[in-house]
Amino acid sequence: MRLSGRIVLVTGAAGGIGRAVALCFAGEGAVVVVSDINAAGCSETLELIEGAGGSGCSLLADVMHESAIRLLYRQIMDRFGKLDSVVNIAGGDCEPAADVEEIDYVRMSANLDLNLKSCILSCREAARVMKPQGFGRIVNMSSLVYRGSPNQFSYSAAKGGIYAFTRSLALSLGCYGITVNALAPALVEVPAFVRALGPERWEMLRKDCAGRYPLGRVATPDDVARCALFLASDDAAFITGQILEISGGARL
Ligand SMILES: NC(=O)c1ccc[n+]([C@@H]2O[C@H](COP(=O)([O-])OP(=O)(O)OC[C@H]3O[C@@H](n4cnc5c(N)ncnc54)[C@H](O)[C@@H]3O)[C@@H](O)[C@H]2O)c1
Repeated sequence: MRLSGRIVLVTGAAGGIGRAVALCFAGEGAVVVVSDINAAGCSETLELIEGAGGSGCSLLADVMHESAIRLLYRQIMDRFGKLDSVVNIAGGDCEPAADVEEIDYVRMSANLDLNLKSCILSCREAARVMKPQGFGRIVNMSSLVYRGSPNQFSYSAAKGGIYAFTRSLALSLGCYGITVNALAPALVEVPAFVRALGPERWEMLRKDCAGRYPLGRVATPDDVARCALFLASDDAAFITGQILEISGGARL
């Protein structure tokens, strides 16, 4: 058990990747705080954790609101008195496939709020808790689009911002025994994607990407969860400020 006794917060834990991370961490002995804006999805994730013999609790929070993030951390500290790891996964593209001339102020702002500002604010609260502990493992969710992606302007800017922020935070928190790293997956097969595109368009996208990725397939949520586990575990004790591309070799 690589995370025995650890208290871990996973945001976006009702979603495809977040649920896989929550289950994977619980399977390694962590007590997982499952957080999301989706109450029913959180309950399902918690049921799956408990059904597999793990433990955790569910705390709802809308990460678009600073006060909700503050409250989330306060609730965790009231309940557990410590927080060893946070995996900031909540996010998504609020402005997919817009021509540059069509960038919409509201959607652009939503992308920055949901993906970038939420991560910064969550890390701020985590640092407040972890610095006095002298220990912490922070894992942020970027995306392979951090390198740039046609017609994904505000989303790629947010995910690129996460990379720059992760490096800056790693520089500041290393001396407190806190590591900060980021994940950058290429396409991951999650139910939300399949639902949003419909089976036919999803299948076209999946085939197109699989054909371009050297490993010949798209990622699964478990591929991502195992990388998050590595970065949160003692195996990665001397790794900080890194972005881990989970891409099947895409864009080498
Ligand atoms: N699926 C992919 O191909 C892929 C690739 C690279 C990066 N990512 C990133 O991985 C993360 C997880 O995405 P996913 O693919 O599992 O999608 P998903 O839609 O299944 O999960 C996203 C989760 O975030 C939650 N969420 C959305 N807004 C929120 C808010 N305001 N407050 C709290 N929670 C909120 C949703 O309810 C959902 O459970 C996202 O940050 C996404 O940008 C996904």
